[in-house]
Amino acid sequence: GTTLAAAANLTGRWFGTAVAANKLADPVYAGILNREFDVVTPENEMKLDATEPRQGEFHFTNADRIVDHALARGARVRGHTLLWHAGLPGWLQGLSGAALRQAMLNHVTGVVTHYRGRVHSWDVVNEAFADGTSGRRRDSSFQRTGDDWIEAAFRTARAADPGAKLCYNDYNTESWAHAKTQAVHRMVQDFRARGVPIDCVGLQSHFGSGNPVPADFRTTLRNFADLGVDVQITELDVEGSGQAQADGYRRVVRDCLAVPRCAGITVWGIRDTDSWRASGTPLLFDGRGEEKPAYHAVRSALLGG
Ligand code: G3I
Repeated sequence: GTTLAAAANLTGRWFGTAVAANKLADPVYAGILNREFDVVTPENEMKLDATEPRQGEFHFTNADRIVDHALARGARVRGHTLLWHAGLPGWLQGLSGAALRQAMLNHVTGVVTHYRGRVHSWDVVNEAFADGTSGRRRDSSFQRTGDDWIEAAFRTARAADPGAKLCYNDYNTESWAHAKTQAVHRMVQDFRARGVPIDCVGLQSHFGSGNPVPADFRTTLRNFADLGVDVQITELDVEGSGQAQADGYRRVVRDCLAVPRCAGITVWGIRDTDSWRASGTPLLFDGRGEEKPAYHAVRSALLGG
């Protein structure tokens, strides 16, 4: 039958997954990866603690394994992520002010330069906005260097690889009714108005019973697209099982297909046993690598069903 990537390609889109370097040697895992997906996101291997464990000493071995694997098979790579408040190495936690700003931009330049021409889209900044109704930035050491840290990161990334698409990525930004969503939208609108380089917005899309696929998801996708950026669904998973889970996945695919600038969908892992969620069954393949009802719902929705 048609694979997820082949079905997505018929609509001009891609279909990706998060990948862990230490699983590439698992033949079941690699078999599904190579068959079904045409975009790959390293799940942890490009994060700051992995790529710059000591200041100025870059380490790309694990991320390179994923990138080489993907490019050798004609797949593309989403780079995740250059700057995130979580998972910061000790050396960086000790910095503030101008020294932190300098180290931050040096990190962006070092990583983006290493992957110049090989990464299709970068999550330049991840999760910089606060939850709740304030619409404010999240407090973080980066944020304390000044409100302009995000645009400085985007300009630096553009200079290091003018061919890569530059994305802002976040969670709880799927519902248009959410204050956080509208705050991110205002930032992107401001960047576009002032010529700050930004090409895409990533909506992580971790869904479950506590946060079902919102009825206004499509509105959010449209409103971002109307700013002249692509939207990408970057970390999709839907907690649950059976037809209820399949329905959630189907709605996400249909909402993406309804918006021409929704460029592609990435699921956050291959088998349920690969998921970051400690328990549960949020993905498209079960622990044995068998296709679940959610898999068939995604594929048929991509094919217009
Ligand atoms: O690899 C080490 C292992 O050597 C060690 O023994 C073990 C003990 O804790 O930890 C292992 O590293 C863990 C790593 O996952 C690999 O399994 C880290 O502790 C753990 O923190 C890390 O979790 C990742 C998490 O981000 C934090 O970086 C998840 O795999 C990853 O799925 C998750 O992904 C995030 C996105 O980047 C951003 N959006 C939310 C999403 C889900 O939380």
